[in-house]
Amino acid sequence: MAVSFLKHVALAIPQSDLREAVAFYSDFGLLMSEGEGVVSFGCRGRRYDSVFLIPGAQKKKIHHVAMGATAEGLERVRDSVRTAGLQLEKAPAGFSGAGIWFRNPHGLLFNVEDSPPEEPLAVEPEFRINSPGHYNRVNTIVMPPKSGIPDPQPRKLGHILLFTPDVDESIDFLDRVLGMRLSDRSADVVAFTHCQGGSDHHVIALAKSAGIGFHHASFMVATPDEVGLGGCRMIEKGHTQGWGFGRHAIGSNFFHYVRDPWGSYVEYYADIDYIADSDAWQATNWPLEDSLHAWGPNPPEDMVHNYELS
Ligand SMILES: [Fe+2]
Repeated sequence: MAVSFLKHVALAIPQSDLREAVAFYSDFGLLMSEGEGVVSFGCRGRRYDSVFLIPGAQKKKIHHVAMGATAEGLERVRDSVRTAGLQLEKAPAGFSGAGIWFRNPHGLLFNVEDSPPEEPLAVEPEFRINSPGHYNRVNTIVMPPKSGIPDPQPRKLGHILLFTPDVDESIDFLDRVLGMRLSDRSADVVAFTHCQGGSDHHVIALAKSAGIGFHHASFMVATPDEVGLGGCRMIEKGHTQGWGFGRHAIGSNFFHYVRDPWGSYVEYYADIDYIADSDAWQATNWPLEDSLHAWGPNPPEDMVHNYELS
């Protein structure tokens, strides 16, 4: 085991986009913090913020990905970086010099730091449905009046999807250097990787493009209802572009994506597959027709376009 969990993704953005970005992530349900030259957003009650914005760039581009590890895991990554012939770098301005910074073979900056893990999420009421032969919810209603439903509350950052010019090379990097494992893939077009030691089905996902880039960050909510509600509430707040409500085949999660100010996305998800033991999981190469979703509306035509290249 090397890295244990995903801490955050950082994006460089134009200063002029900051106001719109703050409104977007706040409407999504994240809490803002301000640092030196950095604005960050996180889920209520979590130790680490999930999305960092670094204003001052010409256009939006992915800046780095930060992962947490145990002290032993960090030393494993340090050895793997050396073995892979990758160079360590100084921490960028505004970020911790603890841990190590290095670029993958495609030039994407990664940070791995000895970091205490997040506390387990609070236990919440089980999502129960009535189905043929199973009356799991009796003598009670499930939905309050529409006016009484609170805004969705993202519980944690679950995964990010990154563009890569070579999916196989990126899987190899994540496996050999970060100690992550392939969950599933679809040809050389998309792939899904998880952290060892108990992990959502995907923590870092990959999509083929002409270059590197950030596609989406995905946040867990409690139920499929909250996924659908989240998408609707974002539309009501003026964030009308996106994709959902639907369910993925690979990973099984319910989803609703909301388009951010730069043509990438945030996602609400619920009920994703969980890999408790990497050795007990058999990675599958899914047909391309299954790579996007099992059901739901058709995605926007540019759903998998890497706007960081154009
Ligand atoms: Fe996702």
